[in-house]
Amino acid sequence: MRILNASGCLDALAAPDVARQLDGFVTKTVTPLPREGSAPPRIAETAHGMLNAIGLANPGRERFLAEYLPRLRELGVPLWVSVGGFCAEDYAEMCARLADEGVEAIELNLSCPNVDEAADSAAEIVAACRRATALPLYAKLSAAHPDVAEVARAVAAAGADGLSLINTLRAFAFDRRLRPVLARGSGGLSGPSLKPIALHAVTVCHEAAGLPIVGMGGIESGRDALEFAVCGARDVALGTVLFADPSAPARVREELVAACADAGVVNPEDARSLAKSPETERKVPA
Ligand SMILES: Cc1cc2nc3c(=O)[nH]c(=O)nc-3n(C[C@H](O)[C@H](O)[C@H](O)COP(=O)(O)O)c2cc1C
Repeated sequence: MRILNASGCLDALAAPDVARQLDGFVTKTVTPLPREGSAPPRIAETAHGMLNAIGLANPGRERFLAEYLPRLRELGVPLWVSVGGFCAEDYAEMCARLADEGVEAIELNLSCPNVDEAADSAAEIVAACRRATALPLYAKLSAAHPDVAEVARAVAAAGADGLSLINTLRAFAFDRRLRPVLARGSGGLSGPSLKPIALHAVTVCHEAAGLPIVGMGGIESGRDALEFAVCGARDVALGTVLFADPSAPARVREELVAACADAGVVNPEDARSLAKSPETERKVPA
């Protein structure tokens, strides 16, 4: 099981020592044009997790390729580039530009705002990217879709090599004076409250699509990571936990060894055998 960071949750150039603990560094989503993102405050802690409305702030494709990617390569950590856009061509063009850039994989952020997440649209984007690159393509989906397993099946048929599950869920919180905590109003909820939703999404998508999955959503410990493995995740990504604990990748890796021993499995790859799928169970008559 590889331990990655979740896109947007680590600035590897500002914190290279954290990035070097990872088995792969996933960039913040890159869009064709630079984006300043939403007005502040755009991050807030709530009693139920973190809310963010960063708004995909990023330097844009050209500056990313010219200035950021060469510096990220110097870290010596396998690189995953998270690609965003507003139509299939946006995504496909960036995928084509990443050939020969020393990138290990591409994560397609199919769950960013302004991108229609209907099964057709996600599949269309993946198909366009598939034609543009031979690099491994991971489709990052949102559990907000009424049937995320159907989307998983559609992107698998369109040529995705793997799935990243899940992105933040749209949410809202008030401050003490009943004003929205975020300037933009709503934002994406992340952290431990996402974990049960993510575990379910990983389970049903694993059953539906059978693709390698990077599981994420509220992972804070080795035990959490093992739970994702039981649901069918091959790898995991750490997001919100990195804001509080920069040593989380090394700590989670250590704890995972102990969690496997506790569960009676040799390694996380064997943990799937412990699964009792809720979807399969449901089909068994009472
Ligand atoms: C501050 C912040 C910025 C994020 N930016 C991105 C992004 O640019 N692209 C993306 O695909 N996901 C982004 N995410 C979502 C995370 O990658 C991850 O899917 C989500 O936070 C769930 O994991 P967690 O609960 O461990 O944080 C962001 C999350 C946070 C908290």
